[in-house]
Amino acid sequence: MTSVAVVGTQWGDEGKGKVVDLLTEEADLVVRFQGGNNAGHTLVVGAETYALHLIPSGILHPGKAALIGNGVVVDPDVLIGEIEALRSRGVEVNPRQLTVSASAHVIMPYHKALDAARESPLPGPGGEGRVFIGTTGRGIGPAYEDKASRQGLRMRDLLDPAAFAARAKAALLEKNALFTALYGIPAMGLPELEALRAGWAAKLAPFIGDARPALWKAVREGRHVLFEGAQGAQLDIDHGTYPYVTSSTTLSGGICGGSGTAPRDIGTVLGLVKAYTSRVGEGPFPTEITGPAGDALREAGREYGTTTGRPRRCGHLDAVAVRTAAALCGITSLAVTKLDVLSGLGPLKIARAYRLDGSEIDFMPQDIRDLERCEPVYWDYAGFAEDISRARLITDLPKGAREYLEGVEELCGAPLGLVSVGPERGETIILESFF
Ligand code: GDP
Ligand code: IMO
Ligand code: MG
Repeated sequence: MTSVAVVGTQWGDEGKGKVVDLLTEEADLVVRFQGGNNAGHTLVVGAETYALHLIPSGILHPGKAALIGNGVVVDPDVLIGEIEALRSRGVEVNPRQLTVSASAHVIMPYHKALDAARESPLPGPGGEGRVFIGTTGRGIGPAYEDKASRQGLRMRDLLDPAAFAARAKAALLEKNALFTALYGIPAMGLPELEALRAGWAAKLAPFIGDARPALWKAVREGRHVLFEGAQGAQLDIDHGTYPYVTSSTTLSGGICGGSGTAPRDIGTVLGLVKAYTSRVGEGPFPTEITGPAGDALREAGREYGTTTGRPRRCGHLDAVAVRTAAALCGITSLAVTKLDVLSGLGPLKIARAYRLDGSEIDFMPQDIRDLERCEPVYWDYAGFAEDISRARLITDLPKGAREYLEGVEELCGAPLGLVSVGPERGETIILESFF
């Protein structure tokens, strides 16, 4: 098999959706392996813009197969909504094309309620020291928690009313105790969950199956498989800025467990790097630009969340973060996106190292107590003012843009494979073939 993995190297929203959509032209199969509808992947196809949260971005290419792997957490209402919204826009979504792993965990209404309650002040006293993450509120963390504590419901359970009722009843015992005694929110009843199950099963049953044989067949037959990462390396549950992270493994290593792929079958790892940095939610961000310059970058890049609409925090490119992601993910090529956004915003800076306790360090510390004490050490670049959205070759770019890209390549620890100069499929400089 030839496979390409697309992973984010920053805090998400690097432009993975666009690049996955582009690479799908050469792929046979597109696979999501982690995360859920906390992801928001935007694709621009001609005059149409699509925001996908759960269904792999490859769905927009007729005839390509899409898998939602076991490592994904699935909100059935969102999945149904996404299927219906795509169909209403003339995109075919049928069970021959899309398989949802029977082992993917279900995001239940109580997961969303728990996510929201944890991100809100307590009704009574005693909440000192609680940490607010600024989650997307989609129930992601609580769903992964139940998976790890073996209390979760899987997609297969939607097709088995008795098992669903028994497991949901057991889950409600704990959840309702928390809701009423601690968070002061209403308890949930089993009948309402059972009614939801019936509706979900009626619509989703044809899509639920074992997603692995199609993947294994693709491996045997040497077909092209594209793995679509969600979030980014700095949001990884183990290696990100814990606790300000998401609840899944966002690194290329997550592909194996999250889909049923062997490590040797992961080929090219394309690390997505936005030409600057953004972050949504709380947590340390060493190269953040606050004030009017940060606002200008946000407006130029239209940095508002695809999922929640929240304004994204913006800052300089952090090569220390990307270099760390390159090491964590085994990145073989970099895809630099949104370079066009930096036009006219120069001079530009790239953090080449951090200064910590008087010494320079080249990688992100694993603990945020250390990260919070780090000062970025920058290199300066002249920048550029030209419109570069029509560049299709590196040589079409003005000198200032080329120098900046040379800096990215030199500082981030992997060669450039692709440069994106606009949101559309065609607005891309392709430097190598990935499959
Ligand atoms: P993802 O979560 O990594 O898929 O990224 P998002 O879709 O959340 O955010 C990236 C945003 O930038 C989307 O609105 C894309 O349409 C847009 N985008 C992607 N690549 C480019 C590019 O090269 N230039 C510009 N101007 N916009 C881009
Ligand atoms: P894509 O795939 C940017 C952030 C949230 C929050 C933290 C935890 O579009 O790049 P969660 O809801 O996952 O428990 O929230 O992670 N976050 C993202 N930020 N892009 C994403 O996905 C994100 N998914 C989660 O803002 O800080
Ligand atoms: Mg996004």
